[in-house]
Amino acid sequence: MLVATLLCTAGSGSFDTPVSPLGASLAASVLPAPEHVSTSTDRFPLTAATRISAPAGATAVGEYLAAAIRRATGLPVRTGERGSIALTLDGKASLGPEGYHLAITTAGVRIDAHDPAGLFHGVQTLRQVIPERSGAVTLPGGTVTDTPRFAWRGASLDVARHFFSVAEVERYIDALALYKINTLHLHLTDDQGWRIEIRSRPRLTQIGAATEIGGGHGGFYTQDEYRALVKYAQDRFITVVPEIELPGHTNAALASYAELNCDGKARRPYLSSGVGFSSVCPGRQATEYFIADVFAEVAALTPGPFVHIGGDEVKSLTPREYASVVESAQRAVQAQHKTAIGWQEITAAALDPGTVVQYWQRNDPPGPLVAAAGKAKFVLSPADKTYLDMKYNPQTELGLSWAGFVEVRDAYDWDPATLLPGVGEARVLGVEAPIWTETLENASDVLFMAFPRLPAIAELGWSPRSSHDWDSFRRRLAIQAPHWDAMHLSYYRSPQIPWPR
Ligand code: ACM
Repeated sequence: MLVATLLCTAGSGSFDTPVSPLGASLAASVLPAPEHVSTSTDRFPLTAATRISAPAGATAVGEYLAAAIRRATGLPVRTGERGSIALTLDGKASLGPEGYHLAITTAGVRIDAHDPAGLFHGVQTLRQVIPERSGAVTLPGGTVTDTPRFAWRGASLDVARHFFSVAEVERYIDALALYKINTLHLHLTDDQGWRIEIRSRPRLTQIGAATEIGGGHGGFYTQDEYRALVKYAQDRFITVVPEIELPGHTNAALASYAELNCDGKARRPYLSSGVGFSSVCPGRQATEYFIADVFAEVAALTPGPFVHIGGDEVKSLTPREYASVVESAQRAVQAQHKTAIGWQEITAAALDPGTVVQYWQRNDPPGPLVAAAGKAKFVLSPADKTYLDMKYNPQTELGLSWAGFVEVRDAYDWDPATLLPGVGEARVLGVEAPIWTETLENASDVLFMAFPRLPAIAELGWSPRSSHDWDSFRRRLAIQAPHWDAMHLSYYRSPQIPWPR
């Protein structure tokens, strides 16, 4: 058996040759690039007789893989005893909660992890070398040992400007899982709509949920639907982070409850896209009760450790008023034993140790922001690189362009550890790719804007810095397309990528 050990290697050949999706080596196929990968001349035959065994603690991961193989190949692969594809939880503790070791030999496939999340990520790697072709196939041999660079590898979805059904969000979750994204930040409230049932404040959904940008009917998740969404994500090892925007981006709440307004008058619903005008009334008892009640319900529905308190783009409060509302929100989250995260503007308030800052706005010089953040950790979402609602180019019909046009290479070619002076690797909790939905109305719109840029952000979050290589990335990205086609995921055929013909 010929074995070549490579460190994060992929792709070869002339710059613009389209890559065949079939028969590519393990090293040339996997995205995000693994920490270590070796290729061998072994070939594993995947046939109708193939069985998958999984340990008691991860039977669902085995079933998930079986279903993925059936979908891709039509082969009646099932779980069973002593499978030739064996998933185990015998992996070393050094793999951490999300790492895995994968070995593909002629005799079989084995994925070892220390925790079920690691097995799930190993399964995603394996899926990438299973061709979308009906009938028996052979898989390329080799090994992968892989752990993530950053703990927070996020995507966020604005379900407030336009509402997205549970099924649509689940479709996005399935797409996120392919690239080892582990955090789904749901932007649940904004001026144009309130999207989660709060039992102590029924008018939020009776009134605040009935609108969306442009005049559509809006919608909301009942608490049971939200729980089901959280569970769907959890089953794919994705943690939901709910965002309740404060003090601004609150017109839907201000329309629902008059007492949240300083003048005591309920606002009219807002169907347009301007920002910065709305705010709950700072310092009022009604506001304090509202904040405490809403975060108590949201936290109780959310098993994950983080709750997002918003905090961006407030133009109608004094700095002192702004800080007082952010601090109330932070206290309300802490009272529920959760950790608060907020947009970078929250650094103007007194932050508790542990509160996380989400960086997004590239217009301001970062020095004062970094100084104000103290020791806080950052989630990095620079708009000119990670905002997946930015147009790819001037011809892109969907999306906005206030942060510029963001082609695939713009999304990929940066380093989270050097983006903000003074915020090195250890202060970066991770990266996140937001999608704002002023112009996006359905799952297909969202997917078109996310793909192929989302995998770029996923690779920045997962892969070691030493693997960063645009030419390798674009080749590995190209051979994802047959998977997207087979899964009916819409995507932008960027001219920067050597797509298979
Ligand atoms: C933001 O884009 N306003 C966080």
